[in-house]
Amino acid sequence: LHAKALQELDDVQDTKRLGEWRVAYLGKKSELTTLSKQMGQLDAQTRPLFGQLLNERRQALEGAFTSKRESIEAAEQNARLAAETIDITLPGRHRDVGAVHPISRVIRDIEDIFLGMGFMIADGPEVETDRYNFEMLNLPKDHPARDMQDTFYITEELLMRTHTSPMQVRTMEQMHPHAPIKVIVPGRVYRRDEDDATHSHAFTQIEGLVVDKGIRMSDLKGVLEAFAKALFGEHQRVRLRPSYFPFTEPSAEVDLVCVHCQGHGCRVCKDTGWIEILGAGMVHPRVLDMAGYDSSIYSGFAFGMGPERIAMLKYGITDIRQLYQNDLRLLRQFAKV
Ligand code: PHE
Repeated sequence: LHAKALQELDDVQDTKRLGEWRVAYLGKKSELTTLSKQMGQLDAQTRPLFGQLLNERRQALEGAFTSKRESIEAAEQNARLAAETIDITLPGRHRDVGAVHPISRVIRDIEDIFLGMGFMIADGPEVETDRYNFEMLNLPKDHPARDMQDTFYITEELLMRTHTSPMQVRTMEQMHPHAPIKVIVPGRVYRRDEDDATHSHAFTQIEGLVVDKGIRMSDLKGVLEAFAKALFGEHQRVRLRPSYFPFTEPSAEVDLVCVHCQGHGCRVCKDTGWIEILGAGMVHPRVLDMAGYDSSIYSGFAFGMGPERIAMLKYGITDIRQLYQNDLRLLRQFAKV
């Protein structure tokens, strides 16, 4: 039996079989253990001799077991180390590096500029109520200017916001009665427009709002001028043209000196030397009053601009749809800039 046990142990190659071997030859049900238990039946003379023999056998088997275990463990360790070896001469796997989308870049640049002037950044819902998108902005149900922005209605009262201007009202209600308010709100807006080179049914706006005592039109112009210089360079100038929005009075459309021809006239500015970048104006007294800021004490200005327009100007993109198609040939160009 002893020889058979050692012979079998010799063949064992892994930890699992080693465990089985131990159970078979050294375990509770092994022959060795059974014999030890039966020793009591032997007479007093043979018992110590037999006991000694069993002990020697047990020790020999345990010794053989221990050295076998050590050699198996060493072998398994070596196998593991070999399997985990990293071949540092293998070429690496190529991974594409992501790029910040041009619209996001423009939004971040603009946020940085206004943060530097002490503005907060806020965020508002894209599904808006008729009340915030229109009524509270001095656009009652029958107002003809509602046609300026063809609307995606969800229900009679719910719609996809057509501009970020509802956030003027939401911000004033939230800040009330705190002043000053200085906030910009980037976000997506929706209009029932046919998509073409210059129109998209979904696009981005950045709203701006300042409310305090004694805010004047010259403050609006100063902020926009500082903004234009920060975004397009120190030589930039802005021009305000009279315009109409129901929620501002007076209202203006704001032009930049054309960034391509520096005002000399080119295709981009249709030879006018100027490019329109945003709508703006002094917050209409009715809008202030409805939002809880007494228009006999407070005044403010607001503006709304289109990051798509600015991205197209900045990066020479001629078709707005290119900003939404996610063509890698366009997006890759922004990976390293
Ligand atoms: N909400 C206007 C638009 O979408 C832009 C605007 C914002 C005009 C704020 C004046 C003041 O066209």
